[in-house]
Amino acid sequence: MSMSVGIDKIGLYIPQHYVDTEDLANARGVDPAKYLVGIGQEKMAIPLLEQDIIALAANAAKQILSPEDLEEIDQIIFATESSFDFSKASAIYLHDLLNIQPYAKSYEIKQACYGMTAGIQSACDYVQLRPQRKVLVVSADIARYGLNSSGEVTQGAGAVALLITANPRILAIQQESISVTSNQFDFWRPHYSDVALVDGHYSTQLYQELYVQVMERLELTNPTYLQTIKAMVFHLPFTKMGLKALNSYAQSESTHFDLEKKAALLNQWQAIYPATTVLNRQVGNLYTGSLYLSLISLLMFAEELTSGDVIGLFSYGSGAVAELITGIIQPQYLEMLNTNQIQAHFDRRTKLTIAEYEAIFNETLASNEEVLNVSDGTPGEGFYLKKIDAHRRYYDYKP
Ligand code: CAA
Repeated sequence: MSMSVGIDKIGLYIPQHYVDTEDLANARGVDPAKYLVGIGQEKMAIPLLEQDIIALAANAAKQILSPEDLEEIDQIIFATESSFDFSKASAIYLHDLLNIQPYAKSYEIKQACYGMTAGIQSACDYVQLRPQRKVLVVSADIARYGLNSSGEVTQGAGAVALLITANPRILAIQQESISVTSNQFDFWRPHYSDVALVDGHYSTQLYQELYVQVMERLELTNPTYLQTIKAMVFHLPFTKMGLKALNSYAQSESTHFDLEKKAALLNQWQAIYPATTVLNRQVGNLYTGSLYLSLISLLMFAEELTSGDVIGLFSYGSGAVAELITGIIQPQYLEMLNTNQIQAHFDRRTKLTIAEYEAIFNETLASNEEVLNVSDGTPGEGFYLKKIDAHRRYYDYKP
């Protein structure tokens, strides 16, 4: 039997400002119940200009790395769809800011919101062959659709950092996984646009179709394993999305699977589902990190979970690639998560008025700006973008 590898530590960073979606609904002339119930979002994290993806990611990773980790990390894999450079990988900035040993390699992965999952699997394969070494996999994104757009309420920002090791203390990633690729235009962002282009209703439909497709393949290839899955965690662009996927699966034909067993599984996953959405409801869409924010939420709030339980994680990246990966909860998962710190991280936030949010949203960086001092007088907390000079980005740290 192969050795267990997977998630040993999880770091989370969410910007300190948010918009209340009820305020947003009132400002946009929409019934607040649409946002709170129909979409399932209460708050939306808003980054300042100096909180770019490097700052977000460095703040998430710094919390979890010990001096030993810095020496033992061989790779930094950065998953994002908010990159500002077509050539230089965001992971290189992270390697520098975090002081990771010089012989590590650093690169960026892109496939919409799916990228983090590809990074985790690549990291697990690497560690499986070199059990003494570690890989840092980080996701950071800023979800932007535009003021007054129908996607506006599904924006958000933040970063998740995972340390992948042998004998992990949170989640052992299993070899069992099912992936699917389909060339589609449901959501994409050409390089000349700073907001996403999206065919919103089609994107939610495609997400559900690919979930059903993946589940039906698992029914066919490994029905016994499928029955062991205790909870299902989803990529959550908004918290209603996973529920829609579960409902679609409930309605699918499932010609290869015992229908009574399927109904029992779905009942169990639906009962646990609210726990998987608690944190996502307070943040919005993290793109690459959303699935892993939902995993944190499950681990913190699903009281029925115990060590040894199998978790299904459905990763979806528009365009489109989807994959169901699975993991087994490890005995020390709760102490490794540091739930008090995560709660305090959420409690420190302050609410913006809609006018303040709109001003921050419009304060974007022009791509041709030569010299820029981003943080004049208002530096962010932790790592932040200090200046852009001759197209070079420089960062600083505020304790
Ligand atoms: N009270 C309660 N519920 C209400 C309501 C009210 N007063 N008014 C409307 N609703 C419900 C609707 O019935 C609907 O529920 P169902 O989907 O269960 O039927 C829900 O609120 C949303 O209503 P609409 O469909 O009319 O909303 P919309 O047209 O404004 O758009 C959206 C919703 C398509 C999700 C849009 O916000 C969007 O485009 N978001 C960005 C794209 C996205 O997140 N896609 C997800 C799949 S793609 C992906 O996962 C990758 C990624 O990260 C982007």
